[in-house]
Amino acid sequence: MSKDTFTIIDNRTGKSYEIPVEYSTIRARDLRQIKVHPDEFGTMSYDPGFDNTASCKSRITFIDGEKGILRYRGYPIEQLAEKSTFLEVAYLLIFGELPTKQQLAEWEYKIMHHTFLHENMTELFHAFRYDAHPMGMMISALAFMSTLHKEASRIEDPDVRLKQIYRILGKLPTVAAFCYRHRIGRPFNYPNADMGYTENFLYMLDYMHQTKYEVNPVLAKALDVLFILHADHEQNASTSVMRSIGSAYADPYSAMAGAAAALFGPRHGGANEAVVKMLTEIGDVKNVPAYIERVKKGEFRLMGFGHRVYKNYDPRAKIIKRIAYEVFEVTGMNPLIDIAVELERVALEDEYFISRKLYPNVDFYSGIIYQAMRFPPDMFTVLFTLGRAPGWLAQWVELVTDPEQKIARPRQIYLGYDYRDYVPIEQRG
Ligand code: CMC
Repeated sequence: MSKDTFTIIDNRTGKSYEIPVEYSTIRARDLRQIKVHPDEFGTMSYDPGFDNTASCKSRITFIDGEKGILRYRGYPIEQLAEKSTFLEVAYLLIFGELPTKQQLAEWEYKIMHHTFLHENMTELFHAFRYDAHPMGMMISALAFMSTLHKEASRIEDPDVRLKQIYRILGKLPTVAAFCYRHRIGRPFNYPNADMGYTENFLYMLDYMHQTKYEVNPVLAKALDVLFILHADHEQNASTSVMRSIGSAYADPYSAMAGAAAALFGPRHGGANEAVVKMLTEIGDVKNVPAYIERVKKGEFRLMGFGHRVYKNYDPRAKIIKRIAYEVFEVTGMNPLIDIAVELERVALEDEYFISRKLYPNVDFYSGIIYQAMRFPPDMFTVLFTLGRAPGWLAQWVELVTDPEQKIARPRQIYLGYDYRDYVPIEQRG
């Protein structure tokens, strides 16, 4: 008769252990009983980068990396990108269901009425040098927000949590726009709650007191879809940081400052900036084969390629590639797209990339769109941050309301020195 257990035989002792299996997973804790001597710590699992370790049970995002499937709360990303809006998707991620008309109107109203920054925070931006990386400003601004909203540390109170969610989603576009305006030495534009979420963001970035000013609806829509595509991606590096800091019961602003710092890295959200740098360096379609050869020799990685989970085309990259051409209708062609398309073609026919299942990821085409929209490359990861914010918040709410969760505290395999006595400095060699 089949049983949902594993039998583990310890060949060191000949002892056998029966361990429950649920969802094709064993509890790492069940390994602890396996030991040779009773005073030993017991068996652990070793998994650098959490390659094969589930740290939570989640109902938010489903990914099938082999098939290239991404769903938020069960809804396919392709349908959400085509039919939904970013704020509706944010609601879906955080509350688990699509909103009714009234719920959506209330949600949008609340978020659009939490867009203003405290004036002390506005001064924060002036403290940065003109060439400060906007991600550094974004991370600092998130930490700053925790000093303004002290009640945010009451994370067990659902009303307090919701209030911080309104504030974070409302204020982040203002922070991002102020980072940009500071960088280009222009006065800040204050938010306009009569506009849509992405429309208001583009307005704050761009407006120069023209008498007739309108945000281009195609660009606002394109950015809205890009935000949807970035909104969540289950337990990636930055989300794990959000959960890790959240597990210590820090307030959500502090947790999010940490998550944004992880996103900043070039192997994570910083890759879109790196892709544009790479394409600019390649410079011409004819240089693509030589560049690929250098990647294969291990000189550097092809940025915007490869993924820990996707071993197939990243479904987000497919949608982004299509949006790119819609944006170019407005902005004019970005010449880097030809190099990107050729790079993708050559790589996908090459044994090196085929055997390792390396496909374009979300960052491969997004930077090209952002550049065509005249965003400087160092703003790209800030845009990723705006998109990812609802996902981080949804995962944080799930964490703090999950009775099975504990403070994140991994183990280690200690390979350092055994006991040794302190040596006074005069006696050291
Ligand atoms: N170019 C060339 N070779 C690569 C690449 C790449 N972009 N990615 C992985 N490989 C090779 C790697 O060298 C290794 O080869 P070998 O087996 O011969 O040593 C093999 O593929 C497996 O790589 P890995 O490092 O074990 O894979 P990982 O799952 O740990 O890394 C990754 C995933 C995304 C960090 C990696 O693919 C990468 O560095 N890509 C470039 C950066 C990038 O585009 N990041 C954005 C990720 S998607 C959005 C996001 O998360 O923010």
